[in-house]
Amino acid sequence: MLRQVLECGSPLPLSSATKRQRAAALQDASALFTQRIQRDTRRAPIKTLVVPLLDIKNLKLDFLSGDASLRAVDGVSLSMEAGETVCLVGESGCGKTVTALSIGRLVPTPPANYVSGEVLLNGRDVLKMSPAELRDIRGGVVSYVFQEPSASLNPVIRIGKQIKESLKLHRPEKAADEEVIRLLKLVRIPAPESRIRNYPFEMSGGMQQRVMIAMALASEPKLLVADEPTTALDVTIQAQILELLLDLKKRLGMSILLITHNLGIVGDIADRVAVMYAGQIVELAPARDLLRRPLHPYTKALMNSVPQLNGTATRLSAIPGSVPRIGNFPPGCRFFPRCPSAKPECANTMPELVEVETKRWVRCLYANS
Ligand SMILES: Nc1ncnc2c1ncn2[C@@H]1O[C@H](COP(=O)(O)OP(=O)(O)OP(=O)(O)O)[C@@H](O)[C@H]1O
Ligand SMILES: [Mg+2]
Repeated sequence: MLRQVLECGSPLPLSSATKRQRAAALQDASALFTQRIQRDTRRAPIKTLVVPLLDIKNLKLDFLSGDASLRAVDGVSLSMEAGETVCLVGESGCGKTVTALSIGRLVPTPPANYVSGEVLLNGRDVLKMSPAELRDIRGGVVSYVFQEPSASLNPVIRIGKQIKESLKLHRPEKAADEEVIRLLKLVRIPAPESRIRNYPFEMSGGMQQRVMIAMALASEPKLLVADEPTTALDVTIQAQILELLLDLKKRLGMSILLITHNLGIVGDIADRVAVMYAGQIVELAPARDLLRRPLHPYTKALMNSVPQLNGTATRLSAIPGSVPRIGNFPPGCRFFPRCPSAKPECANTMPELVEVETKRWVRCLYANS
């Protein structure tokens, strides 16, 4: 390369140059070479390929029922960066859990059938992984905390042993009491040294949920999926668990996908919010923007059904009707039958999810009107 530069850039052909001229030419050439590299580097900065932690692309999932194939997740696309918290909200039966379970390919097939799409975790498609690869990513990359801790904990095994089992699976070198105690401290369980000998029934619901979170954290996941982790708890404990998740997110830098049907809690924890309705994402936006100015009529309706504590209490408006069952979705906009702003076209035209403002995606023909 240097010789090439010398031959192209030197004012003298090498053969006819004296020793001093050659040295000078060599110096000039290396300066020229350096300049060119610097110039090229400025012109074309080295691009680092940033792969999102999670990238769900156009996921479609059916449930088989007799001869019928009922679409439960219909073209869901959602990506998450490392360290980001996204809330997935929507009424019961919208497809939140099925979408979240798909990240670890945890929906059993059958009855489910992954029809198409990709679920990329660190750039690798979960839907194409071998059983061994799946075992690695479950816990290793993505961990789950579910709604009902008492249903997930084994009632006849001490909680210390249960957490140790999680450690054995993913970090066997750490499967000792000290690490269990460290994890229990992390989730703020008082007196963890004695608590490790407790059975689940000796703990309150809130404590059990903390144990579940500790078990999920045992594998040091990059993404924690919390599926309505506070629904079974009373409101004070709910707030404590949410505050704990927020604290863990800050301290451990992991991403959190929090599923909830309560829009009231997302402002405290979420960076972005995805609103689901009848198997589709209907609005996706930064949390602050969405809460300040929801654009989809469904998001507006959900927000109107959240109680406000600012003294301007008016009657809560429930959303009329209910979420259509899978296999029974209307042909056009799926929210059309319940939408207060529906227009005749909405009955037959299925709206696309469109970026109507920077980082704001809405699936409504009249989102900006
Ligand atoms: N194993 C299954 N077999 C058949 N249908 C299922 C199965 N699991 C879920 N479904 C259906 O898929 C749809 C989406 O269910 P999902 O559990 O994802 O809803 P969700 O939004 O999590 O609701 P919730 O807030 O009640 O938890 C529902 O209509 C549900 O009945
Ligand atoms: Mg659910």
